[in-house]
Amino acid sequence: MNEATNPRLYPPSNDFVKSAHVDAAAYETTYKASVTDPDTFWGDEARKRLDWIEPFTKVKNTDFTLGQVSIKWFEDGTLNVAANCIDRHLSTRAEQTAIIFEPDDPETPAQHITYAALHENVCRMANVLLAQGVMRGDRVVIYLPMIPEAAYAMLACARIGAIHSVVFAGFSPDALANRVNDCQAKVVITADTAPRGGKRTALKSNADAALLHCSDKVRCLVVKHTGDQTTWVEGRDVDVKAMMAEVAPDCPPRPMNAEDPLFILYTSGSTGKPKGVVHSSGGYLLYAAMTQQITFDYHDGDVFWCGADVGWVTGHTYILYGPLANGATTLMFEGVPTWPDASRFWQVIEKHKVNQFYTAPTAIRALMGQGTKFVEGHDLSSLKVLGTVGEPINPEAWNWYNDNIGKGKLPIVDTWWQTETGGHMITPLPGATPTKPGSATKPFFGVQPVVLEPTSGEEIAETKTEGVLAIKDSWPGQMRTVWGDHERFEKTYFADYKGYYFAGDGCRRDEDGYYWITGRVDDVINVSGHRMGTAEVESALVAHAKVAEAAVVGYPHEVKGQGIYCYVTLMNGEEPSDELKKELRTWVRNEIGPIASPDLIQWAPGLPKTRSGKIMRRILRKIAENDYGALGDTSTLADPSVVDDLIENRMNR
Ligand code: WT7
Repeated sequence: MNEATNPRLYPPSNDFVKSAHVDAAAYETTYKASVTDPDTFWGDEARKRLDWIEPFTKVKNTDFTLGQVSIKWFEDGTLNVAANCIDRHLSTRAEQTAIIFEPDDPETPAQHITYAALHENVCRMANVLLAQGVMRGDRVVIYLPMIPEAAYAMLACARIGAIHSVVFAGFSPDALANRVNDCQAKVVITADTAPRGGKRTALKSNADAALLHCSDKVRCLVVKHTGDQTTWVEGRDVDVKAMMAEVAPDCPPRPMNAEDPLFILYTSGSTGKPKGVVHSSGGYLLYAAMTQQITFDYHDGDVFWCGADVGWVTGHTYILYGPLANGATTLMFEGVPTWPDASRFWQVIEKHKVNQFYTAPTAIRALMGQGTKFVEGHDLSSLKVLGTVGEPINPEAWNWYNDNIGKGKLPIVDTWWQTETGGHMITPLPGATPTKPGSATKPFFGVQPVVLEPTSGEEIAETKTEGVLAIKDSWPGQMRTVWGDHERFEKTYFADYKGYYFAGDGCRRDEDGYYWITGRVDDVINVSGHRMGTAEVESALVAHAKVAEAAVVGYPHEVKGQGIYCYVTLMNGEEPSDELKKELRTWVRNEIGPIASPDLIQWAPGLPKTRSGKIMRRILRKIAENDYGALGDTSTLADPSVVDDLIENRMNR
């Protein structure tokens, strides 16, 4: 049998199926019910899974029509997200661990934060925010490493009805300033320094640099985490821990409308500056809770570990909101997989007896490259379910994960979703779906994926097909708008294919109805599972005095999935040199952050353009991929000879 066209099926074991929340038969019936009558299905789930202050009477009110896109779920209900994640568990789980904090340095003891302690810390943090004048609807930017205070801060915002916007601690001062300004945040919460992989990032000085470009009314709340020295601006900077010790240990949760924004999270698009993805309180929390329980087959008492950073949506939904809404024990890891050595993940799993483990293909590939000796000798027998997210997983990485971590016995859930979707959209359910390595398989309850013909936008009825991936109807976890720019929201997701939510990914559907995501079809690249707009890197490059023009594309990279390939045209009179390449790399890191660091820079005397001046990226992508046999039609180029030069000098031969 040909593995490529007919890959092997990996069904769950009979034992696993017996105790699973959802088996194959239940998946079929429940899925059908969820799409036939979404009002009944989601209404029941929302009543069952969440505590409402004022119950909703209306379930779904959504419209994908361009010009009037509107998404509302449970719109007349009120609830408080923090109360759902903490308070309602106190009667039964006060002494249960809510968060296990595993510090960067394995020698530093882990912390077990109980639900009772979480309650007190979140209340104290909420009172600190109130004392700073933060009110319902105000924006709070959180620029923190993976420490418990990040969780306290997010939940404190939820408690008082403020909207948080977490900015990944790896972002530069400029990127931070842009986000603070875009959402007009009242405060920024940061830490002195952030240990990671044995090194320290000077977060507070980054925040200082960023705040030079922000309104001088913005307060800076500083968590003294390492105790490292930082500058201190009197009247602006606040010592969070000291204040937390002074304020009251209780703070009533504020009733919020289900549609009130819970958070903004900035993500890259194909054009312009990053957009602020807005998520709701009710629908988002329901979707987070339900997917965390069902996709990972989480059971009471399990220890759940999502290895993402809280700076990304994965961390929001699967470190914090989903697990805590379910009363789970969730692990928060400050470190990296490869320090002190490549056995750290497996050590942590053994130490805390982790039951479900969720990571990205890029991490698996990086560890795979170090060999199995780092896995050997670690007791991984607590594991029940493995998960991946962020990019398509290549069969080699899947097999390594399955053989060495799953010991050939554990279900692997390859979860396709996006910042915009709030939670899993296409994913196996571990007790229900036989998996195929590399396929995200089938839709989650209530999700109606379709494959569209890319040019006509027609829905393709045949099961076996290929095209662009779109979603036919709303689900509760869907983003509601782009912060401050609803028109951009409509244009980005609902304009290309009328009546659908367009995800930006291409996909294939096989004869069994399984979905295979083939990657972005827009100018977004996926570097180590992180989304990067090529336009952002380009504008960083052209902001350099010696750069006249730049075009950025992705190319296949062994560990990162995609690497960042930059074609750079220098200003007249500037000499290309290796020195200058280094300078440009540093420049981009400073402008955006280390994740945007160019992998390859090629000097381009000219870029392939149409006669109307549009850069033909299709050609640049092919050259970067070393696929210049498939350049296609170049006759519309203003100067076809530039292509020959680029091929001649391409970087990754
Ligand atoms: C893009 C979304 C959702 C959290 C992580 C990234 C790609 C994500 C998969 C997967 C193939 C995937 C898509 C998507 N992607 N998961 N399992 N298989 N591709 O969130 O930064 O919003 O990026 O990541 O291209 O559109 P994000």
